[in-house]
Amino acid sequence: MLVLIDNANLKEIEALYNDYPYDGVTTNPSILMKEHKNPFKVLKDIRSFLPDDSMLHAQVVSETTEKMVEEAHFMLHEIRDDLFIKVPVTTDGLRAIHILKQEGVNVTATAIYTAMQAFMAAKAGARYTAPYVNRLDNMGADGVQVAKDIHDMFRVHNMEADVLAASFKNSQQILNLCKHGIGSVTAAPDVLRALTYHDATFTAEENFTHDFYSLLNEVEGTH
Ligand code: E4P
Repeated sequence: MLVLIDNANLKEIEALYNDYPYDGVTTNPSILMKEHKNPFKVLKDIRSFLPDDSMLHAQVVSETTEKMVEEAHFMLHEIRDDLFIKVPVTTDGLRAIHILKQEGVNVTATAIYTAMQAFMAAKAGARYTAPYVNRLDNMGADGVQVAKDIHDMFRVHNMEADVLAASFKNSQQILNLCKHGIGSVTAAPDVLRALTYHDATFTAEENFTHDFYSLLNEVEGTH
Protein backbone atom coordinates (compact mmCIF):
# COMPACT_ATOMS: atom_id res chain seq x y z
CA MET A 1 0.00 0.00 0.00
CA LEU A 2 1.41 3.39 -1.01
CA VAL A 3 1.33 6.01 1.75
CA LEU A 4 1.26 9.67 0.75
CA ILE A 5 1.34 12.92 2.69
CA ASP A 6 -1.76 15.12 2.41
CA ASN A 7 -0.09 18.47 3.07
CA ALA A 8 1.62 21.36 1.29
CA ASN A 9 4.02 22.64 3.93
CA LEU A 10 7.51 21.98 2.62
CA LYS A 11 9.11 21.91 6.08
CA GLU A 12 6.53 19.39 7.29
CA ILE A 13 6.99 17.27 4.14
CA GLU A 14 10.79 17.37 4.53
CA ALA A 15 10.50 16.36 8.20
CA LEU A 16 8.21 13.44 7.35
CA TYR A 17 10.46 12.24 4.51
CA ASN A 18 13.40 12.48 6.89
CA ASP A 19 11.59 10.06 9.21
CA TYR A 20 10.27 7.67 6.59
CA PRO A 21 10.38 7.12 2.78
CA TYR A 22 6.81 8.11 1.85
CA ASP A 23 5.43 7.63 -1.67
CA GLY A 24 4.38 11.15 -2.49
CA VAL A 25 2.30 14.18 -1.64
CA THR A 26 -1.30 15.12 -2.33
CA THR A 27 -2.67 18.62 -2.10
CA ASN A 28 -5.97 20.35 -2.65
CA PRO A 29 -6.82 24.06 -2.87
CA SER A 30 -7.79 24.23 0.83
CA ILE A 31 -4.48 22.66 1.86
CA LEU A 32 -2.58 25.13 -0.37
CA MET A 33 -4.54 28.04 1.11
CA LYS A 34 -2.92 27.35 4.49
CA GLU A 35 0.52 28.21 3.05
CA HIS A 36 -0.41 31.84 2.13
CA LYS A 37 2.04 31.73 -0.78
CA ASN A 38 1.82 31.46 -4.56
CA PRO A 39 0.34 27.94 -4.97
CA PHE A 40 2.32 27.17 -8.13
CA LYS A 41 5.58 28.12 -6.41
CA VAL A 42 4.61 25.95 -3.41
CA LEU A 43 3.89 22.98 -5.70
CA LYS A 44 7.09 23.54 -7.67
CA ASP A 45 9.15 23.59 -4.48
CA ILE A 46 7.50 20.40 -3.23
CA ARG A 47 8.14 18.68 -6.58
CA SER A 48 11.79 19.75 -6.51
CA PHE A 49 12.22 18.30 -3.04
CA LEU A 50 10.50 14.97 -3.72
CA PRO A 51 12.50 12.00 -5.03
CA ASP A 52 11.75 11.15 -8.67
CA ASP A 53 9.84 8.02 -7.70
CA SER A 54 7.46 9.97 -5.46
CA MET A 55 4.19 11.30 -6.87
CA LEU A 56 2.78 14.80 -6.52
CA HIS A 57 -0.99 15.29 -6.92
CA ALA A 58 -2.43 18.77 -7.49
CA GLN A 59 -6.02 19.77 -8.14
CA VAL A 60 -7.68 21.90 -10.78
CA VAL A 61 -10.17 24.50 -9.54
CA SER A 62 -12.12 25.32 -12.71
CA GLU A 63 -15.68 24.12 -13.10
CA THR A 64 -15.92 23.59 -16.85
CA THR A 65 -14.24 20.82 -18.85
CA GLU A 66 -12.44 23.24 -21.13
CA LYS A 67 -11.02 25.30 -18.27
CA MET A 68 -10.06 22.20 -16.27
CA VAL A 69 -8.05 20.86 -19.22
CA GLU A 70 -6.46 24.28 -19.79
CA GLU A 71 -5.54 24.50 -16.11
CA ALA A 72 -4.10 20.98 -16.15
CA HIS A 73 -1.89 21.92 -19.13
CA PHE A 74 -0.70 25.02 -17.29
CA MET A 75 0.18 23.04 -14.14
CA LEU A 76 1.99 20.35 -16.10
CA HIS A 77 4.03 23.05 -17.83
CA GLU A 78 4.67 25.12 -14.68
CA ILE A 79 5.36 22.30 -12.20
CA ARG A 80 6.39 19.08 -13.95
CA ASP A 81 4.95 16.89 -16.68
CA ASP A 82 4.57 13.82 -14.44
CA LEU A 83 2.23 15.63 -12.06
CA PHE A 84 -0.99 13.79 -11.17
CA ILE A 85 -3.86 16.13 -11.98
CA LYS A 86 -6.70 15.86 -9.49
CA VAL A 87 -10.11 16.40 -11.04
CA PRO A 88 -13.36 16.38 -9.02
CA VAL A 89 -15.89 13.84 -10.33
CA THR A 90 -18.50 16.25 -11.62
CA THR A 91 -20.03 15.85 -15.10
CA ASP A 92 -17.52 18.34 -16.48
CA GLY A 93 -14.79 16.66 -14.43
CA LEU A 94 -15.52 13.27 -16.01
CA ARG A 95 -15.23 14.81 -19.46
CA ALA A 96 -11.93 16.44 -18.48
CA ILE A 97 -10.63 13.12 -17.12
CA HIS A 98 -11.38 11.46 -20.46
CA ILE A 99 -9.65 14.17 -22.48
CA LEU A 100 -6.58 14.26 -20.20
CA LYS A 101 -6.29 10.47 -20.28
CA GLN A 102 -6.29 10.53 -24.10
CA GLU A 103 -3.46 13.06 -23.90
CA GLY A 104 -1.47 10.68 -21.69
CA VAL A 105 -1.85 12.77 -18.53
CA ASN A 106 -1.92 11.06 -15.11
CA VAL A 107 -5.31 11.77 -13.55
CA THR A 108 -6.59 11.33 -10.02
CA ALA A 109 -10.36 11.54 -9.70
CA THR A 110 -11.18 13.27 -6.44
CA ALA A 111 -14.01 14.39 -4.15
CA ILE A 112 -15.52 10.89 -4.41
CA TYR A 113 -18.46 10.05 -2.17
CA THR A 114 -19.87 6.94 -3.86
CA ALA A 115 -18.29 3.79 -5.24
CA MET A 116 -20.00 4.25 -8.61
CA GLN A 117 -18.48 7.72 -9.02
CA ALA A 118 -15.09 6.06 -8.71
CA PHE A 119 -16.03 3.29 -11.14
CA MET A 120 -17.19 5.75 -13.80
CA ALA A 121 -14.11 7.95 -13.25
CA ALA A 122 -11.88 4.92 -13.76
CA LYS A 123 -13.77 4.04 -16.95
CA ALA A 124 -13.20 7.60 -18.14
CA GLY A 125 -9.46 7.13 -17.57
CA ALA A 126 -8.55 8.04 -13.99
CA ARG A 127 -5.46 6.21 -12.70
CA TYR A 128 -6.33 6.91 -9.06
CA THR A 129 -9.67 7.56 -7.41
CA ALA A 130 -9.91 9.32 -4.07
CA PRO A 131 -12.88 8.48 -1.84
CA TYR A 132 -13.17 10.83 1.16
CA VAL A 133 -13.30 8.33 4.01
CA ASN A 134 -13.71 10.55 7.04
CA ARG A 135 -16.03 13.03 5.34
CA LEU A 136 -18.25 10.04 4.48
CA ASP A 137 -18.14 8.83 8.08
CA ASN A 138 -19.19 12.30 9.22
CA MET A 139 -22.22 12.09 6.91
CA GLY A 140 -23.34 8.87 8.58
CA ALA A 141 -22.04 6.70 5.74
CA ASP A 142 -19.22 4.12 5.98
CA GLY A 143 -16.15 5.64 4.32
CA VAL A 144 -13.97 2.57 4.77
CA GLN A 145 -16.62 0.38 3.14
CA VAL A 146 -16.94 2.75 0.16
CA ALA A 147 -13.16 2.59 -0.37
CA LYS A 148 -13.22 -1.23 -0.07
CA ASP A 149 -16.10 -1.47 -2.57
CA ILE A 150 -14.16 0.61 -5.09
CA HIS A 151 -11.05 -1.54 -4.63
CA ASP A 152 -13.11 -4.72 -5.14
CA MET A 153 -14.85 -3.38 -8.25
CA PHE A 154 -11.53 -2.48 -9.85
CA ARG A 155 -10.25 -6.02 -9.21
CA VAL A 156 -13.44 -7.78 -10.37
CA HIS A 157 -13.49 -5.75 -13.59
CA ASN A 158 -9.73 -5.98 -14.19
CA MET A 159 -9.38 -2.21 -14.28
CA GLU A 160 -6.02 -0.51 -14.11
CA ALA A 161 -7.24 2.12 -11.65
CA ASP A 162 -6.42 2.11 -7.96
CA VAL A 163 -7.92 3.57 -4.82
CA LEU A 164 -6.09 6.53 -3.31
CA ALA A 165 -8.17 6.78 -0.17
CA ALA A 166 -8.19 10.26 1.37
CA SER A 167 -9.66 12.25 4.26
CA PHE A 168 -8.67 10.32 7.38
CA LYS A 169 -9.18 11.20 11.00
CA ASN A 170 -7.39 8.28 12.62
CA SER A 171 -5.04 5.36 12.06
CA GLN A 172 -7.82 2.78 12.58
CA GLN A 173 -9.47 3.85 9.32
CA ILE A 174 -6.15 3.32 7.53
CA LEU A 175 -5.56 -0.05 9.23
CA ASN A 176 -8.95 -1.27 8.00
CA LEU A 177 -8.07 -0.34 4.43
CA CYS A 178 -4.55 -1.75 4.69
CA LYS A 179 -5.96 -5.14 5.76
CA HIS A 180 -8.15 -5.09 2.66
CA GLY A 181 -5.22 -4.55 0.29
CA ILE A 182 -6.11 -0.98 -0.71
CA GLY A 183 -3.58 0.41 -3.21
CA SER A 184 -2.82 3.74 -1.58
CA VAL A 185 -3.81 6.20 1.10
CA THR A 186 -3.04 9.83 1.74
CA ALA A 187 -3.27 11.37 5.18
CA ALA A 188 -2.39 14.51 7.11
CA PRO A 189 0.90 14.55 9.08
CA ASP A 190 -0.73 13.97 12.49
CA VAL A 191 -2.52 10.85 11.24
CA LEU A 192 0.66 9.57 9.55
CA ARG A 193 2.66 10.01 12.75
CA ALA A 194 -0.04 8.11 14.64
CA LEU A 195 0.62 5.13 12.34
CA THR A 196 3.98 4.48 13.94
CA TYR A 197 3.95 6.18 17.34
CA HIS A 198 3.27 4.26 20.53
CA ASP A 199 4.28 5.36 24.03
CA ALA A 200 4.87 1.74 25.03
CA THR A 201 7.54 1.37 22.33
CA PHE A 202 9.52 4.25 23.81
CA THR A 203 9.09 2.85 27.34
CA ALA A 204 10.26 -0.56 26.12
CA GLU A 205 13.29 1.03 24.43
CA GLU A 206 14.16 2.96 27.62
CA ASN A 207 13.89 -0.19 29.72
CA PHE A 208 16.07 -2.21 27.33
CA THR A 209 18.71 0.53 27.29
CA HIS A 210 18.61 0.81 31.09
CA ASP A 211 18.93 -2.97 31.52
CA PHE A 212 21.82 -3.21 29.08
CA TYR A 213 23.86 -0.49 30.80
CA SER A 214 23.00 -1.93 34.22
CA LEU A 215 24.42 -5.23 32.98
CA LEU A 216 27.61 -3.56 31.70
CA ASN A 217 27.96 -1.78 35.00
CA GLU A 218 27.51 -5.05 36.85
CA VAL A 219 30.10 -7.00 34.83
CA GLU A 220 32.64 -4.26 34.08
CA GLY A 221 31.86 -1.55 36.60
CA THR A 222 32.41 0.97 33.78
CA HIS A 223 28.96 2.56 33.46
C1 E4P B 1 -7.17 14.58 -0.70
O1 E4P B 1 -7.14 14.22 -1.83
C2 E4P B 1 -8.34 15.25 -0.13
O2 E4P B 1 -8.46 16.47 -0.75
C3 E4P B 1 -8.23 15.38 1.34
O3 E4P B 1 -7.71 14.21 1.88
C4 E4P B 1 -9.48 15.80 2.05
O4 E4P B 1 -9.25 15.63 3.43
P1 E4P B 1 -10.13 16.34 4.55
O5 E4P B 1 -11.46 15.71 4.54
O6 E4P B 1 -9.37 16.08 5.81
O7 E4P B 1 -10.18 17.79 4.20
